[in-house]
Amino acid sequence: DNSKAWSGRFSEPVSDLVKRYTASIHFDQRLALQDIRGSLAHARMLARQNIIGSEDLAAIERGMAQIEAEIVKGRFAWNLDDEDVHLNIEKRLTALVGDAGKRLHTGRSRNDQVATDIRLWLRDEIDAIDDLLRRYLLALLDLAERHAATPMPGFTHLQVAQPVTFGHHLLAYVEMTKRDRERMADCRRRVNRLPLGGAALAGTTFSIDRAFVAQQLGFDAVCENSLDAVSDRDFAIEFSAAAALVMVHLSRLSEELILWMSPRVGFIDIADRFCTGSSIMPQKKNPDVPELARGKSGRVFGHLMGLLTLMKGQPLAYNKDNQEDKEPLFDTVDTLSDTLRIFADMAAGITVKPEAMNAALKQGFATATDLADYLVKRGVPFRDAHEAVARAVRAAETKGCDLADLALNELQAFSPLIGADVFEVLSIEGSLAARDHIGGTAPVQVRAAIARTRAALNE
Ligand code: ARG
Repeated sequence: DNSKAWSGRFSEPVSDLVKRYTASIHFDQRLALQDIRGSLAHARMLARQNIIGSEDLAAIERGMAQIEAEIVKGRFAWNLDDEDVHLNIEKRLTALVGDAGKRLHTGRSRNDQVATDIRLWLRDEIDAIDDLLRRYLLALLDLAERHAATPMPGFTHLQVAQPVTFGHHLLAYVEMTKRDRERMADCRRRVNRLPLGGAALAGTTFSIDRAFVAQQLGFDAVCENSLDAVSDRDFAIEFSAAAALVMVHLSRLSEELILWMSPRVGFIDIADRFCTGSSIMPQKKNPDVPELARGKSGRVFGHLMGLLTLMKGQPLAYNKDNQEDKEPLFDTVDTLSDTLRIFADMAAGITVKPEAMNAALKQGFATATDLADYLVKRGVPFRDAHEAVARAVRAAETKGCDLADLALNELQAFSPLIGADVFEVLSIEGSLAARDHIGGTAPVQVRAAIARTRAALNE
């Protein structure tokens, strides 16, 4: 039987081009298992409400079990003539169990059906992504812990600013990742609502029990307005925005990894298994993984813009435009999941080169602010201290040395308040240890922050 589920009204079949253009089966078959789950919950509700018979429900359950097995084994024959995943499965069900299959769609529309499928699918994907974010977080914490006291230059404007520890630097990404998880969890609350029951747009004349279906499918609540239920894709946009921010964070770290791995900087090395060579230059080892992550962030941002644009002009309620929500959403999930998985692994493959970090620190007058603070603690107004240290920096620069390499009497030329204890203040270790408050880079604080995050992760 080649006729379409809706062909009764039509006098001629669609052209092959239109068939291909309007079909979604080549991508929405990814929702097949969610579609079956949703249909089973709907059928159980219909039977419970005496809208279909218990023998119909039994037939539907039997048919769906076989269909699911066929799909899982890759033996299901997806057919372009049946347009999308919903009609493909319904058609097969009817072929297997007859009239009971034809009763399944009672009180339902593909409009509320597809919205339910996507929400079920996305909910599971958010849970998997949260798991990956957690793994990535743990990998960052391990690396940060190993380098809680490893000094490196902190930068502003990509100029050496003040010493930080490498662990402290990584904890900035830990904070971003913690927020990313919060955003995903928050988004999940709005994903996890049931559209089914909205039917085509206005609800249905049958005495359905939406709360029962919601409970069967693990939804926290039902969508409260039928028009909104079938036409809302906010949840997909929110997810994409949250995903885009994760990619922003991964892309920023990527940029740093690439920079740090450049021989000009040489702060880190990345294990060979995350790098690739050049087909012409035999000496090359390129940081392809972070470069690709930086590049792939663009597709995720693009999908976010695509989804926003998809929705902005749509009148209520359902329009076929919405079929275009799936590919961007699928690609966003795939790109994000792969990137997180690879970053969780790659963190363990990062080797830090403390000598290179130290050498960079020595060249950048990284403890100049510490000297200014030292003078302030001896009563010099900060602006005057700033000026005195700036002159000291110029002198050291002319001499081609660090502030700490100037003799005490040379330093005293810039302020008579400078004493022999200044060298502790000018040392990198002294500078780090002095920033001893919550959020500061002192190694004890870095270790405490790691411990707090680990404790929260294990709660
Ligand atoms: N394939 C469609 C989609 O993805 C399913 C809903 C179709 N509804 C309709 N009225 N044509 O949105």
